[in-house]
Amino acid sequence: MEFQLSEKQQNFRIKVRDFAQQEVEPTAAQRDREERFDRVLFDRMGQLGFTGIPWPEEYGGLGADYVSYALAVEQLSQVCASTGVMLSVHTSLAGWSLYRYGTEEQKQKYLRPLSEGKNLGAYSLTENESGSDAGAMRTRAMKEEDGYILNGTKIFVTNAGEADIYVVFAMTDFQKRSKGCSAFIVEKGTPGFHFGKKEKKLGIRSSPTMGIIFDQCRVPKENLLGNEGEGFKIAMTALDGGRIGIAAQAVGIAQGALDACIASLKNRQAAPTKLADMATRIEAARLLTYQAAWRESTGLPYGKQSAFAKLFASDTAMQVTIDAVQMFGDFGYTDDSPVERYFRDAKVTQIYEGTSEIQRLVISRMLLAD
Ligand code: CAA
Repeated sequence: MEFQLSEKQQNFRIKVRDFAQQEVEPTAAQRDREERFDRVLFDRMGQLGFTGIPWPEEYGGLGADYVSYALAVEQLSQVCASTGVMLSVHTSLAGWSLYRYGTEEQKQKYLRPLSEGKNLGAYSLTENESGSDAGAMRTRAMKEEDGYILNGTKIFVTNAGEADIYVVFAMTDFQKRSKGCSAFIVEKGTPGFHFGKKEKKLGIRSSPTMGIIFDQCRVPKENLLGNEGEGFKIAMTALDGGRIGIAAQAVGIAQGALDACIASLKNRQAAPTKLADMATRIEAARLLTYQAAWRESTGLPYGKQSAFAKLFASDTAMQVTIDAVQMFGDFGYTDDSPVERYFRDAKVTQIYEGTSEIQRLVISRMLLAD
């Protein structure tokens, strides 16, 4: 068993950390206050090769592994969780779905510009009546001669409005329930594709979250991703990997909060027991996250491990940031303190890409199936 990152992974982590500290952190608090997404940061990440970390060079990627991708999300989230989730959804939900299920033509047309940082990706599954129960979606894709007509309303789409390419799930046959769901690649600007309400959120405020309305939106048949009826499987398998990204985001948030406590409390009466507990939890969450990422890279099953990682890391982020605010006292409750933003950002990691309750359901079902 090897617990050491390879030299390549360590160097990559340093490269992302330098970028995060020098170019992301300085504007993080202000972007959060203004609820402002900064496309320039994404463009810079494209130049540095961070927008296609795990994809092969033939698709414009860096050809690195999933551990490197998790390291990048962690490092970014340590200073700005909004930037962390932007990269996570772009890579492991949009990019992964295209990489795993796309035809060669779709990969060249859509994955390559995502990898190269020319286009930003998004993933649209959730609806008003289908959050945790993803299979209950009502968005419909009606087949016509050379494509599909989409009608319906999606909500809570990360990167929406800013993203150029959307992986969208819709029902092609309601009778077949989960086997009647299909996945589509939809370009921003397609007639009949409109953005809904922009959410005002507790945390990750510089990450845009919007609804999408499909009103007679025509998608060409070339943009069906995978086979008709394969959509639910695509959505679920993408989330298996997406949850590694959210776990990495949670680890980054928790580490950022702990670092802030150490830096500010060094010369004061810190609570040493509390610091030790925070650090121990973070290390355990990190190991679970890297394990799941490593399994993805080595071709081993990782759905259960990614659920373990997300469940534990998100609870860790929440507990550590609660403790951090408490340690800072009154100051911790103001937005002048560094930990208030971490505290608000942590909460969503227990909710999106499958709530903690859903992670428990996924884990228990797998245990019983074993
Ligand atoms: N991999 C492959 N196939 C899977 C799978 C997986 N991980 N999970 C389920 N499936 C398959 C099943 O094998 C089954 O296929 P068969 O009929 O051939 O056996 C089919 O899918 C249906 O599965 P279930 O019966 O288990 O489905 P279910 O209706 O009971 O739901 C669930 C399962 C786990 C609760 C699922 O609905 C779920 O994960 N819900 C949470 C949704 C979620 O995470 N949403 C996040 C939104 S995206 C987001 O937040 C992104 C963002 O912007 C940040």
